[in-house]
Amino acid sequence: MPFDRSIKIAPSILSADFANFGAEIRAIEAQGADWVHVDVMDGHFVPNLTFGPPAVKAFRPHVRTFMDVHLMIAPVDPYIEAYAEAGADLIAAHVEAGPHIHRTLQAIRAQGVKSGVVLNPATPAEAVEYLLDLADLVLVMSVNPGFGGQSFIASQVAKIARLRAMIGDRPIHIQVDGGITPETAPLVAAAGADVLVAGSAVFKGGSVETPAVYGANIAAIRAAAEAAQAAA
Ligand code: DX5
Ligand code: ZN
Repeated sequence: MPFDRSIKIAPSILSADFANFGAEIRAIEAQGADWVHVDVMDGHFVPNLTFGPPAVKAFRPHVRTFMDVHLMIAPVDPYIEAYAEAGADLIAAHVEAGPHIHRTLQAIRAQGVKSGVVLNPATPAEAVEYLLDLADLVLVMSVNPGFGGQSFIASQVAKIARLRAMIGDRPIHIQVDGGITPETAPLVAAAGADVLVAGSAVFKGGSVETPAVYGANIAAIRAAAEAAQAAA
């Protein structure tokens, strides 16, 4: 089977109703989400604070697709086992979170979990050159991590194209996270991204009582990305 580089939409539950995560996860999956993106923040590596392993464990039974856990924490290694046991399908760690990202990815895979490596906006694509045999996904941050609702950093498009060239036909997803909308999705898809994280652009205007808005938001991002991917 050829590696599946079709466009996948991964809503970030950072933009969901914090009093209703189970229902929100079920709603976005019913409305077309391909993955569920869980933004873990420690108030140290990034200025915000979100979900510990118990919260991720509570999300798990509601996720039918794929639970993609983005660790914006430092240090990472002491927490890998806990997030794997909480049910993460993929754990992504930042190259900037410590001196031993190569060992961190080995530790993630040792848990039987898919591995992701994350690049902040200032970090060049070359930083993953010696990690491609250990990564199932490379995540390019198109905002400075810590908050939803920020503006897309356009310089990251060139980084995505560089990564796509580096990856070649290896079975590695390119994920983009931050400021993804129907307007920015085509830019990143044309450059080679296949997994698009979106928080505010998915959840805006909707609710668990009006989930069709989530579906329309997801469909708009997907359509824009698929058209650009097909034309690239
Ligand atoms: C930012 C998070 C992103 C964020 C995306 O640190 O990693 O996933 O929630 O939110 P939007 O799509 O609103 O930029
Ligand atoms: Zn994220």
